[in-house]
Amino acid sequence: MFAAEQQYTRVAIWLHWVVAVLIVGQIIGGKIMTAMAGSPTKYEIFQLHKSFGVVILLLSLVRLGWRFTHKPPALPDGMKTYERLGARLTHVGFYVLMIVVPLSGWIVVSVSTPKISTELFKIIPWPDVPFLTRTDGAEVLWKNVHNCLAITVALTFFLHVGAALKHHFVNKDDVLTRMIPILKPGA
Ligand code: HEM
Ligand code: HEM
Repeated sequence: MFAAEQQYTRVAIWLHWVVAVLIVGQIIGGKIMTAMAGSPTKYEIFQLHKSFGVVILLLSLVRLGWRFTHKPPALPDGMKTYERLGARLTHVGFYVLMIVVPLSGWIVVSVSTPKISTELFKIIPWPDVPFLTRTDGAEVLWKNVHNCLAITVALTFFLHVGAALKHHFVNKDDVLTRMIPILKPGA
């Protein structure tokens, strides 16, 4: 049994898993949609990508606010200094990427030629980033930035999952089970 302050809040756990699933879906979906030949389906998938991307941006801002106001549980005592540093860098990196990846996607649609409006889930019109100029050069640049940042998320993901599995199966500590409470014996 862990004391209450050793736990992530329910909200932190829900936000972690909802955002994680959405981000993995965005990366796979983003790669598939850009490889598709032009068609009405491709257009619909682009609109869905933009819609879920904006949802990720908004949820990540909520999550960041929650993180600043709710302290996470401490890392296990036995961890070495470089492991602590690695965990911290990965988590801070993820928080930054969860904001800048969707922002870079939003810039892509705001500088692309021609203009294609964004309508979230076919209901809510979403504006472009103000004061940006549409040029072919800016479009190519920001598409590359968005792609590189998304690849950085994917690489960080493998590092993060590898570390979580090491904690669980090698160190046999509570780091994974406190993020997935149903894995806890007796839960
Ligand atoms: C965490 C959120 C997001 C992730 C992980 C993500 C990921 C990706 C990936 C992997 C691609 C394919 C890149 C390539 O192969 O060149 C892509 C393309 C794209 N994304 Fe996102 N995206 C996110 C959010 C957004 C948002 C919020 C928007 C716009 C509002 C957006 C707009 C686009 C567009 C327009 C493309 C096509 C770019 C091209 O044609 O090269 N994305 N995204
Ligand atoms: C793209 C997907 C993911 C993102 C963006 C992400 C992001 C994060 C972030 C930012 C934290 C730090 C939480 C905080 O201190 O406030 C965290 C913690 C954690 N994540 Fe993920 N995560 C993802 C996927 C996963 C997956 C698939 C697993 C499981 C295999 C996982 C397991 C964990 C665990 C166990 C912790 C707790 C670490 C600790 O207590 O120090 N995450 N994640």
